Formats: sequence, C-alpha cells, structure tokens
Amino acid sequence: MKINDAVVLVTGANRGLGRALAEASLKAGARRVYVGARNPAQLESLVALAPTRVVPLAIDITDARSLAAAAERAKDLTILVNNAGVLASQDVLGSSPEAIAQDFATNTFGLLGATKAFLPALERAAAAGPERAAIVNVLSVVSLGNMPGLGGYSASKAAAHSLTQALRADLATKHIRVHGVFAGAIDTDMVRAMEMAKTSPEAVAQGILDGVERGIDDIAPDPMSRELVAMYQRNPKDLERALSGGVG
Ligand SMILES: NC(=O)c1ccc[n+]([C@@H]2O[C@H](COP(=O)([O-])OP(=O)(O)OC[C@H]3O[C@@H](n4cnc5c(N)ncnc54)[C@H](OP(=O)(O)O)[C@@H]3O)[C@@H](O)[C@H]2O)c1
Repeated sequence: MKINDAVVLVTGANRGLGRALAEASLKAGARRVYVGARNPAQLESLVALAPTRVVPLAIDITDARSLAAAAERAKDLTILVNNAGVLASQDVLGSSPEAIAQDFATNTFGLLGATKAFLPALERAAAAGPERAAIVNVLSVVSLGNMPGLGGYSASKAAAHSLTQALRADLATKHIRVHGVFAGAIDTDMVRAMEMAKTSPEAVAQGILDGVERGIDDIAPDPMSRELVAMYQRNPKDLERALSGGVG
C-alpha cells in the first residue's frame, strides 16, 4: 500500500520511533497524519512541522475511553501504526507481577484495544477494494525468541506477534493488510541504558514504510532484525540460543 495520500495514525508519536514514523509518513506524502500521545502537549513540535496535515490526539492505548474518543476524530484513517510500547519488566523471575502486567497491558492488550477501536475506519477505507487499508504492528526480534534479560517484555511482544497473525487471517477477507515489524535495537529512550549496536529511529521508520509499500507481512527494518529474522527462519532454536547469549 502506498503511503502517498494515505491517512496515517501513529500511537506513541511524541518521541522515539513513533515520532520518526510520523515524520517519515509526512515525507512520503501522507495526506494526513494523526499523532497520538498520552500527553498531547508533547506533540507541539511535530504539529509545527506541517500544521495542516498533522492532527494531535490524546491517546492512551490502555484506556478504552481515550481510544473511543480518538476513533471519533480519526474516521478517515487508512493506516494504523500500533507503535506505542513499554519496557517495564526485565527477567521473568526477578520482575514484579505488576511490571510484567504493565508490559502485557500496553504491548499486547493495548495493541489489540487500539486495533479494535480504529477498525471501523479501516473497514470503511477497505470497502473500496484492496491496498486501501493497513495495520502496522511494531513488534520486536524478541517476539520470535525470548531474550531472558527482558523475559517479561519479550513474552508480551511474542503475544503481540501471535495477535498479529490472528488479525492478519481475520482481516484478509476484508482487504485490510496486517504487517508485523520485527525491529532490532533502536536508538531511543527505551534502551538508552543498554550498550549494544542500535539503528537510528529515522532509519527504522523508513525501513517500516518501505516494507508496507512493498506489501511485506513480516518486516525486518534494520540490520540487526534482518540477521536475526533470517536466523529464526533457518532454525528458531538458533535464535533462542543467540538471544540467551545476549544478542539483540
Ligand atoms: N527501542 C528498541 O530497541 C525497540 C526494539 C524493538 C521494538 N521496539 C518497539 O518500538 C516501539 C516504540 O518504542 P521506542 O523505542 O520508540 O520507545 P520509547 O522511546 O520509550 O517510546 C515509547 C512510546 O510509547 C508511548 N507509550 C507508552 N505507553 C503508552 C500508552 N499506554 N499509551 C500511549 N502511548 C504509550 C510513550 O509515550 P510516553 O512519552 O507518554 O511514555 C512513547 O511515545 C515500541 O512498541 C517498542 O516496544 C523498540
């Protein structure tokens, strides 16, 4: 599906990858970009980039009322980018149940809640035929194999991958494409404290939009994800071993 002339909504657009995705969508010619944030005051500089095309929305993806209010505003949506996420827990034995629950509430159930809230708009767009509506779920390489140091987060992202597969099958007959993004480490606040090779959010955002335009189900938008997704496709056990050893 083309980004040019699309109406894109990005959750968690106030910083990190979400902000880069919003900017890349503008550059690619999106007609309108709805940018979601828990605190919309943090969207001012993004709106200033293109005040007639960027529409700020208050969106907390764990809050059904906030999602319903945003869906009322974004009825012309054609591409939903489920980007918002948290890394609240660490290893599964050492993390509190609350921290692991927060990862699932956001990364898994929040993604599903946002998808359901904006689905009527996507269905309207898709009624005109194929290539007119898409959902982009920002997952992680750790959706494919658990990285034990981030075991709780990995589990929430694995569940989001499984939901992505379910949605892809459920929405295929409605002509809504569902993409999963198996990103590697990105240079954002989320992994600021972790020493490892990281790709810039701008490059990852471009890789994601390229994947959407090329109609790829499972998008590997950066060098680390390309290497690790290929490893997974050869032998999932190799990825499990690599991630246990600290890669990714
Ligand atoms: N960084 C990495 O290495 C990496 C690798 C693979 C995948 N990812 C995924 O990429 C996505 C973006 O992450 P990032 O690296 O850009 O992290 P980030 O810099 O920490 O940004 C996370 C964004 O999600 C928002 N958010 C968190 N909980 C939310 C909620 N309940 N409702 C709405 N927005 C919420 C945050 O808003 P606030 O400012 O209000 O907190 C922020 O805008 C996430 O899904 C993450 O899991 C990241």
